[in-house]
Amino acid sequence: MRPVTETAPFPAARPRRLRRTAGLRRLVAGTRLHPAELILPMFVKEGIAGPQPVGSMPGVVQHTRESLRKAAHEAAEAGVGGIILFGVPEQKDARGSAADDPEGIVQVALRDLVSDIGDSLVVMTDTCLDEYTDHGHCGLLTESGEVDNDATLERYASAAVAQAEAGSQVIAPSGMMDGQVGAIREALDANGFAEIPILAYSAKYASAFYGPFRDAAECAPQFGDRSAYQQDPAGPVGEALREVRLDLAEGADAVMVKPALAYLDILRQVRDLVEVPVAAYQVSGEYAMIEAAAANGWIDRDRAIMESLIAIRRAGADLILTYWATEVARRLS
Ligand code: PBG
Repeated sequence: MRPVTETAPFPAARPRRLRRTAGLRRLVAGTRLHPAELILPMFVKEGIAGPQPVGSMPGVVQHTRESLRKAAHEAAEAGVGGIILFGVPEQKDARGSAADDPEGIVQVALRDLVSDIGDSLVVMTDTCLDEYTDHGHCGLLTESGEVDNDATLERYASAAVAQAEAGSQVIAPSGMMDGQVGAIREALDANGFAEIPILAYSAKYASAFYGPFRDAAECAPQFGDRSAYQQDPAGPVGEALREVRLDLAEGADAVMVKPALAYLDILRQVRDLVEVPVAAYQVSGEYAMIEAAAANGWIDRDRAIMESLIAIRRAGADLILTYWATEVARRLS
């Protein structure tokens, strides 16, 4: 039951009293953002001479190894808590070979980064196959073109170990295969990485808001879509909670809800369910919508960014993945 603290009606009760000055508003603000809880998603592409802008995400680039290092240092200097790396390889094949190749782009980029960034921010990796497969799906395909859950688990486990060997400090599986957290946990433990945490993309929806990411990571499915493995936006709410419970039972150290803004109800329910840190991913489409409206002069860009992040925080996110992480961290400090 909510405590009742208000007894007198207007004119004794005047909620506006606490809104009158900036000082008062700051004093009673219940929701605050801190740079340390922001995570910056970054793309690193193999075989390019300079950073390449992502058309559908103004301000976001596909990095070279060199520009990645520089941008990671800038994020660290701004106080950003972590970065999460996505790789775009030159060669793709049906099994996503570059995902666990020690010379694959993410592994190579990780080795240069981790050696010079130290502990100034946490370097994480997204563990999935879609950036590495020529068909663009998140797993291996069966003869009939379905994603083969159990065969894919071995590929994820191997990719996670390759990332940990290259220095990844947090493994974040995003492929929505059943059993992926358990398979990765077991492989990490068996290879001497019992101390590496797993941030599980637990409740991940088959969302239209991932559109621009597929340009950035060059991973649009070549046929079909991801609805047979990612969750249906109209699906039962209990499905998200079940995914979270299963991931925790399989050894997840933190869980994620994705996308963020259209799923704040799910985020709140997950926050109320678990004790572990809960992350929310403000995805590419959420970014692109605000940037596009702002570019047209239809919305106040800076206010819309902050309001969306505050909403995600208020709904219960402890950690927020956002492409604006560095900019927002600078603004906060
Ligand atoms: C899968 C992955 C995706 C995103 C993060 N990890 C794409 C997808 O599921 O289709 C999307 C992130 C975004 O839209 O910003 N490796």
